[in-house]
Formats: sequence, structure tokens, C-alpha cells
Amino acid sequence: MLDKVDHKTRQLDAFGTDVAEGLSRVRKTLPSRWLYDDRGSELFEAITVLEEYYPTRTETAILREHADEIAGFVGGSAVLLEYGAGAGIKTEILIEALETPRLYVPIDIAGDFLELTAERIRQRFPHVEVWPVVGDFTSDFEIPDGVQRAKRAAFFPGSTIGNLDGAETAAFLRRVRRHVGAKGTAIIGLDLRKDIDTLLAAYDDREGVTAEFNLNLLARINRELGGDFQLDRFRHEARWNETASAVEMHLVSTVAQRAEVDGRVYTFAEGETIHTESSRKYDTDIFGEIARRNGWTPGPIWTDAERRFAVFGLAATQGETR
Ligand code: AVI
Repeated sequence: MLDKVDHKTRQLDAFGTDVAEGLSRVRKTLPSRWLYDDRGSELFEAITVLEEYYPTRTETAILREHADEIAGFVGGSAVLLEYGAGAGIKTEILIEALETPRLYVPIDIAGDFLELTAERIRQRFPHVEVWPVVGDFTSDFEIPDGVQRAKRAAFFPGSTIGNLDGAETAAFLRRVRRHVGAKGTAIIGLDLRKDIDTLLAAYDDREGVTAEFNLNLLARINRELGGDFQLDRFRHEARWNETASAVEMHLVSTVAQRAEVDGRVYTFAEGETIHTESSRKYDTDIFGEIARRNGWTPGPIWTDAERRFAVFGLAATQGETR
């Protein structure tokens, strides 16, 4: 219980620090991980079923169609580590295809959510042992000693890797390589580059769910940090950044204004933005190269007919441990 309170206090401190730091920059920015409070997570779930948001259904279809090959690549009796647990149906497709996973290890920063995931998998697959681990996949943590070392496979679906910056992506790939060991594999979902209209529509849907998801970050600052942002004076914008090969979400100040958070005042010019998320869109060659530089040998790539999304198989490069 104390742990939970501790965790909440630490989270709130970290949120306050990130807000103060990000809003003090010349180009205002906030880390995208703060988009996911309870309301934000609910809104993200709603995004995943929107007509314009193709990644979730495309990846799910790829996993369904190629489940047996993916399972063949991972091999029998594997320990499945899922980074950022709770991909729901995607996890179930993979566990079902693996037939004989020894153990499923969901890893997530949100303890409550993790327990729900663990319980769901136990119910659905009574023969699979489940060992939830509370951890933040963007920072260093170890897999508990008790988890068998034999043949581990990492699963990181959803193109969540696209929300990490270059340094974080490299660190993540190296960390996962360390976690799975020399015989390990990884199955990683990646959104691919495509025409800009399709990309922008996916991040600016007609119903305005993504706009609400983005604006909820200001509402969260108001709720948790006592901010006084007026949400109707900001609007959501999705932008394509060619250099970064990423769709960016911004909150645009529609007027010149000030907002106060925790005793600090931030000023906004009309049209000034807060950059709240980057979602990188990859070329498969480029991702293969990044993986190679960070301890992995690229394996099969499973994709859809329109090559919108890719599920990448990676095998640990022998002799690399760091
Ligand atoms: C979680 N992540 C992979 C989503 C994405 O597509 O980058 C988050 C998201 N942001 C707006 N819509 C969806």
C-alpha cells in the first residue's frame, strides 16, 4: 500500500518537473508519456478503433495472418516478455500461436493495469504461468532472477517504439537485447512511412477523439498540478516533420495568453505551440540498420498488402551483450 502511495507521489513530482522544464523552453514541449492518465488511456483506446487510425487493426491482421510463422521464428517453450503490457487481442494471438510458452511476463509502469492484464491472461490461458513485472520500459530495470533464462522473446507491438526519440530507441533495443540474452528474439510493431494525407488523418480524426486526447494533457495539468489552462484557447494540430520522419502532435495557442501552474507563469504568443508527441514512421531498411547497431540481427518482416505497417522479427546478435 505504501508502495502505491510512494509511486503516485513520485509520479506527480516527475510530472511537475517535466511540465516546468518543458514549458520553460523556447520551443515548448511535454513528454508524450504524460498523455496516459486514466482519461487519456480511455481516449487512446477509443482512437485505436477509429476508421482513420489504421495501425491497430492493420497490425492485428498481420499478427493473425502470420501467427504460425512468427511462432516458428520465436521457437517453442519460450518465455514471452511484453513491454508495456495490455495489447489485449494482439498478446492473445501471439500466446495462442506459441502454443507452449513457458511463461508470460507483462511489464508495465501501471501496477493496477498490469494485474488486470495478468488476470485476463491467466483466465484465458490457464496452462501459461504469468509473472507481472512493474517497470518503465523507457528506463533501466532488470528482469527478476526467477524468470527462466532459456529462450526469451520480447514483444513490443503497437508501434510504441515510434514514440521514442533516437537515443531512447537505441537504449531500448540494447536493454531488451540484454533482457533476452544470447538465444533471444524480439517481435516489434512498426508503423511505416506512407502518403502524408493518410498519416495526418490518423492523428486528426473527424470525430475529434485525438484532439480530445491531446487537450486532455492540459486538463491533466489543471487537475493534478493546479494549473489554470483554458482548454478552449488551445487547439489540436497534427503535423508531418519530414526530417524526423514523424507525425507530431501540437497544442496551438489560439490567442496570446498566460497560464499559471504551481505558482509559475508561462506566456504563449498567438500561434505558439506545445509539442506533445512524435510518432516516427519508419522505412524497414532504416529500422533494420538501427536494430543492427544495437545488438540485433534483422530477421523476417511481416507486413500487410498495402505495406502500411510492419511486424519485425529480430534475433540477438551473437557475442553482443551490451
Ligand atoms: C501509442 N502510440 C503508438 C500512438 C501513436 O500512434 O503514436 C499514440 C497516439 N497518438 C495519437 N494517436 C495515437
